[in-house]
Amino acid sequence: MTKGIILAGGSGTRLYPMTAVLSKHLQPIYDKPMIYYPLATLMLVGIRRILLISTPRDLPHFQQLLGDGSQWGIELSYALQPEPRGIPEAFLYGRDFIGSEQVCLILGDNLFYGKLDFLREALRTNAGGTIFGYPVQDPQRYGVIELAPDGSVVSIEEKPAHPRSPYAIPGLYVYSADVVDIAATLRPSARGELEIVDIHRAYLAQGRLQVRLLGRGIAWLDTGTPEALVEASIFIHAIEKRQGMKIACLEEIALHQGYITLEEFYRAVERLPASPYKSYCLRVGAEYEQLAGAAG
Ligand code: G1P
Repeated sequence: MTKGIILAGGSGTRLYPMTAVLSKHLQPIYDKPMIYYPLATLMLVGIRRILLISTPRDLPHFQQLLGDGSQWGIELSYALQPEPRGIPEAFLYGRDFIGSEQVCLILGDNLFYGKLDFLREALRTNAGGTIFGYPVQDPQRYGVIELAPDGSVVSIEEKPAHPRSPYAIPGLYVYSADVVDIAATLRPSARGELEIVDIHRAYLAQGRLQVRLLGRGIAWLDTGTPEALVEASIFIHAIEKRQGMKIACLEEIALHQGYITLEEFYRAVERLPASPYKSYCLRVGAEYEQLAGAAG
């Protein structure tokens, strides 16, 4: 069973003053805190044991918001990253949690929308490291992967000034359990951080890196700047308004994934304060009952 890690550290300075007292990952994306979206992504692909890593300032807020996960039929645990020294630190702090199992790491500010079969497939077939490539107009802001026509990797670079391809590497990675050993061998880069691209390179050197290109049909949104944040909100709002369905409603996902029973669902929803979110959940429950009734 794959384990999940959500890394929600960092100081989010590009969003100052919104982040002066509150984590970047708790800022709203339309009608939910940002962290709901990566959590939904993991839950939707069947990952139920999840470690959330954050800063000493912000960790208590996540614990208050998400609890132990039992309301959604998942197991949430927490770890501190005292100083932000790079993404691979997640594997150093997550070593005991990962144990001998494959792990899927998602960065707390990465938002995916669309059919997640690419990720389910990656979890099934990963034999070392699996990363993704997503075409964007501003690859210089991300890790960038360059592939040869035969699909082999030509280069992997972190935020190159002159990107050699349009393929950014989203903050969603699948690694074998020995990623913790690879992370332990890394040395800080010139900017003083452990770099996630060095993990990709290590798997590549071992001939164990798989790259899957994503394209149409999947939205990968960034939330790093105020503009990106508002664009993500508008995107979620447009779809939710059009369809009358919520994206990343964790109670709904837990019910549909079979992580909780209908009774447990109602018990969780009952505790929510009167809100459009609660009304939506009640509607989801009623529709589920109808469907179950029709099927039975
Ligand atoms: C990090 C990674 C980068 C990746 C990006 C995805 O950058 O270092 O390789 O493409 O996340 O969100 P950051 O956004 O933390 O600067």
